[in-house]
Amino acid sequence: MASELNALLDPMRINGKEIANRIVMGPMAAASPDKDGAPSEQTIAFFERRARGGVGMIIAGGTVSTTRAYEESPVASVLRMDIDDTIPQFRKVTDAVHAHGTVIISQLTPGFGRMGKPQGDRQLISPSPINVTIAEDQFPKGFIVPGGRTTPMPREATIEEIKAIENEVIDAAMRAHKAGFDGVQVAAQMSYFSASFLSPRSNWRTDEYGGSAENRGRFHANIVRGIREKAGPDFIIGLLLPANDYLPDGQGPEGFAEVAVEIEKAGLDFVALSTGAYETMKKSAPETDGGMIDSGDAKIFKRVLSVPVMFQGVHDPLLAAKAIEGGHGDFAMFARQMLADPDYAIKVKAGRAADIVKCDRQNLCMRRMVFGMPVRCSVNPEMGRESRQSGTSRPAVRLLKGPLESVILSLTGSPAVMGVLEKLVPGGKQEEAIQRRRKSTPD
Ligand SMILES: Cc1cc2nc3c(=O)[nH]c(=O)nc-3n(C[C@H](O)[C@H](O)[C@H](O)COP(=O)(O)O)c2cc1C
Ligand code: SF4
Repeated sequence: MASELNALLDPMRINGKEIANRIVMGPMAAASPDKDGAPSEQTIAFFERRARGGVGMIIAGGTVSTTRAYEESPVASVLRMDIDDTIPQFRKVTDAVHAHGTVIISQLTPGFGRMGKPQGDRQLISPSPINVTIAEDQFPKGFIVPGGRTTPMPREATIEEIKAIENEVIDAAMRAHKAGFDGVQVAAQMSYFSASFLSPRSNWRTDEYGGSAENRGRFHANIVRGIREKAGPDFIIGLLLPANDYLPDGQGPEGFAEVAVEIEKAGLDFVALSTGAYETMKKSAPETDGGMIDSGDAKIFKRVLSVPVMFQGVHDPLLAAKAIEGGHGDFAMFARQMLADPDYAIKVKAGRAADIVKCDRQNLCMRRMVFGMPVRCSVNPEMGRESRQSGTSRPAVRLLKGPLESVILSLTGSPAVMGVLEKLVPGGKQEEAIQRRRKSTPD
């Protein structure tokens, strides 16, 4: 078995930095930061545990790089890269991960755009004034949202606002640099602010940020150039963008790859691929392996880009190794599977792939995140509690909140209850009836 998996175990360099294997932990807002957006002891333990499990590279997700992104975040607990105060705690994360020889980079989310939570009277901003409608049948497994959901209408961002965001993201990258991260990933996935520049469907601008592929990639290219100039040649700079949005009037892999090529010219070191947009959200948390490999979407990027490509959507190590051998990409990104089994890489290496605890793809983790609860995993009771010493009892706050969360999850998982709730809560925004929490503690 081990030899069939060799393609997943070969080291490879990204911008001169050796990555021990091709197994990358994908970005996830699952690290239970403190209330102030700094990494908590749990955050450090969560990442350290995955590094100890042998993963070659970690992309730290759930990170915001502008103050607007922090304020409008639809996720209750985020890691703040937009302020200096969090740098010392981030340093503890990078030290803990580096102790295992794992490379760690920080995702930089410029803003949530039309998926943000409006604050007071301030309108959301996006490259163009187009909101998002998610039909009832487009939610991932486990989500029941009768009638679907339509987000508030954003206004068009001004050129000054766009440039200010570029500068804020560059500053955030420098904080990541100071905190010991090996690099950053500029996030342009789903329907968030930066992703909305990429496709003519969500970008109708007639200025330098709209129109041609070069213009639609200008925001990201300016950020990449700015980071390179300040952080120097050795800092890893990656980009995350959709391989396909699956929208009839949207953009397929050829269109996204064309923009990626333009951004690559600014000095990228890798390109990571996500899947879908919020309108096609189901695709972004697939229920089976295959996705961008079976469709050939990832290969289209691999053919036109010179930097390493990271694909996602395959949890099985044999299929991931075959995808690398077959020229679909250079690295396999695993997100949920890394929550389910932090020892994935060690097991692959030791020829114990059969012992991998498989992710059930039922998305309890995501539902908890959406409801502002600390992320947990159905098949890994240690997940989210990595910092707890064995033998210690649950913190008092968790003793109270744990049972309440179970009730909420069970009610919101019932089609009958959600159907009634839809009629009681105007606008079908059940999730807004649940209080936002900004503090996460392991129970
Ligand atoms: C709990 C949770 C949080 C996530 N947070 C992020 C995030 O902060 N940034 C991001 O780009 N993707 C995020 N994702 C999406 C994953 O990176 C990934 O694209 C998705 O889970 C599908 O890949 P998988 O099949 O390997 O899980 C999140 C996913 C989960 C389950
Ligand atoms: S097993 Fe379920 S809860 Fe755990 S990572 Fe997979 S989908 Fe999420």
